[in-house]
Amino acid sequence: MDWDATTYDSNFGFVSAHGRPMIDLLAPRPDESILDLGCGTGDLAVEIAGTGARVHGIDADARMIRTARAKHAGSGVSFDVADGHTFTSAEPVDKVFSNAALHWMTRPDEVLARVHAALRPGGVFVAEQGGGRNVAALIRGLRTAAAEQGLGEPVLPWYFPSPAEHAGRLERAGFEVRLMQYFDRPTALAPGDTAADWWRMFGPSTLAHFPEAAHETLLARVDELVRDRRSREGTWYADYVRLRFVAVAT
Ligand code: BEZ
Repeated sequence: MDWDATTYDSNFGFVSAHGRPMIDLLAPRPDESILDLGCGTGDLAVEIAGTGARVHGIDADARMIRTARAKHAGSGVSFDVADGHTFTSAEPVDKVFSNAALHWMTRPDEVLARVHAALRPGGVFVAEQGGGRNVAALIRGLRTAAAEQGLGEPVLPWYFPSPAEHAGRLERAGFEVRLMQYFDRPTALAPGDTAADWWRMFGPSTLAHFPEAAHETLLARVDELVRDRRSREGTWYADYVRLRFVAVAT
């Protein structure tokens, strides 16, 4: 995925804002080492470091990491480009944190194996990602618009598991699941943004499967199809469904 880190920060800052309650769940302490997996532009990593913990952020996207380094120079947080499916940690860490990133990693068993290997025994994995039926209305809108225009089935790049599926994977990877929450969190888009803007920001790989000349007509139709259910008084909402969990490495 090729991210536009500037638009991500300016119009999609809600990603970090909604991640803040996750820091309470993480409960970082000054003597701890913490890895932020899929840190994006680094805002939450730096907030976690504000508690005194030693924090390292990794993200598969080089532009995100360039922005994180520039934005948070002098914060004491280190940032590196690394893929969640293959990363290694030089030293075992006390905790791994991840907000709104794991659903981009489509081989979850490989990711969980890497997280388990990065944690010390008894280390804690605290994460939130899209769960089953996440953005179902946005996907349905695109699917319907594409079918109407004879463009075929959208190719989606996400892993949105049910709680049962993901708990099973965590256990098989060597974790004890201590908390698993699954809840709706309709999420307001930035003022003026519509479903089409959400797809432009988060779905370029899906749109790339359709002819470029068809994109604008397709997205205009998505807006028509989902407007009634996803917008209220001029504000548009993404139908986010969250899977939040805490798991301990055994
Ligand atoms: C999410 O946070 O649920 C999400 C964000 C972008 C694309 C897909 C899901």
